[in-house]
Amino acid sequence: MQKFSDYSAHIEKTLRDLDFPGGALAGLYEPISYAMSAGGKRLRPSLTLMAADAFGGAAEKAESAAAGLEMFHNFTLLHDDVMDNSDMRRGRPSVHARWDVNTAILSGDTMLTLATMQVARVDGSILREVLDSFNDMAVKVYEGQRLDMDFETSDNVSLDDYLHMISLKTGILLGTSARIGALIGGASKEDADRMTEYGVMLGNAFQIQDDWLDVFGDSTTFGKPIGGDINNNKKSFLLLSALASSTPEAEALREAMKLPAGPTKIKTVTRIYEKLDMTARCRDAISAYSSKAIAALKATSLSDGNRAPFRLLVEKLTGRKK
Ligand code: IPE
Ligand code: IPE
Ligand code: MG
Ligand code: MG
Ligand code: MG
Repeated sequence: MQKFSDYSAHIEKTLRDLDFPGGALAGLYEPISYAMSAGGKRLRPSLTLMAADAFGGAAEKAESAAAGLEMFHNFTLLHDDVMDNSDMRRGRPSVHARWDVNTAILSGDTMLTLATMQVARVDGSILREVLDSFNDMAVKVYEGQRLDMDFETSDNVSLDDYLHMISLKTGILLGTSARIGALIGGASKEDADRMTEYGVMLGNAFQIQDDWLDVFGDSTTFGKPIGGDINNNKKSFLLLSALASSTPEAEALREAMKLPAGPTKIKTVTRIYEKLDMTARCRDAISAYSSKAIAALKATSLSDGNRAPFRLLVEKLTGRKK
């Protein structure tokens, strides 16, 4: 049993070996190499390798599927940065900023298909189940992304709506990454379901931390612009929790949301979040989801030793800065 950093190093090497055509089609493939080589945390494919290893000592067998899940994630980021009007990703210009929106759309589409092809390279005995899980997950991510956009202009979004939305846009991809790894490792259906639950809960905690970092992170470390969610009136965990507080600050926040995007809006909203101690609220919510992830993990048939890297990952992601 290895630790998270061993699995992320493993997948980094697999991804480095992927080859994309240049020549006349560089306009299609160069943005893909650019995105795939930018060095994200490799959380999703590492989960796949980790689960395959934990259930069947089968990390190698999970390489293609893991690479496919990372490529799917990167595809969603190309389109997400267009939708969120976000010009920086992993400390570099995002694809639509470096090239243009059409490039982000088409190279993103290509990544989705290449990702599906990679995932489909699993053993024939589990192919149907793995592909169904993957495609179900993909549609849920689009549903989550649609809700995320709709919520920007709605003043009628509850915290429950938000939690549903993040489990779709973020949680289920982590859950499915763990699930597919478990299936490749030969896990029972019950164990695959528990690992899915583990990943979804971890993913929800992860998205709340992402929302927090979007306000209180350091742009250089985080690799993304700070304040984008505030500028877009994103119904983030912070915004909804602050609005739900019956305080004068909630009213001030409602006014601040009408400000035009820019530094004044970001500063005003950030001050309100500080006053309401949204950092503590986020910490509590992350801790609650982390406990749910651990409970799902404990319900699996894995030995304590085989559970350890998944438990450590929960701890590692709580309080992350990037
Ligand atoms: C970004 O995911 C999108 C979210 C779900 C918040 P990551 O924070 O995992 O991005 P990378 O791959 O490490 O850059
Ligand atoms: C991430 O949501 C969800 C997907 C990319 C599917 P965000 O919009 O919060 O992700 P970042 O902050 O741009 O990475
Ligand atoms: Mg988004
Ligand atoms: Mg975004
Ligand atoms: Mg974000």
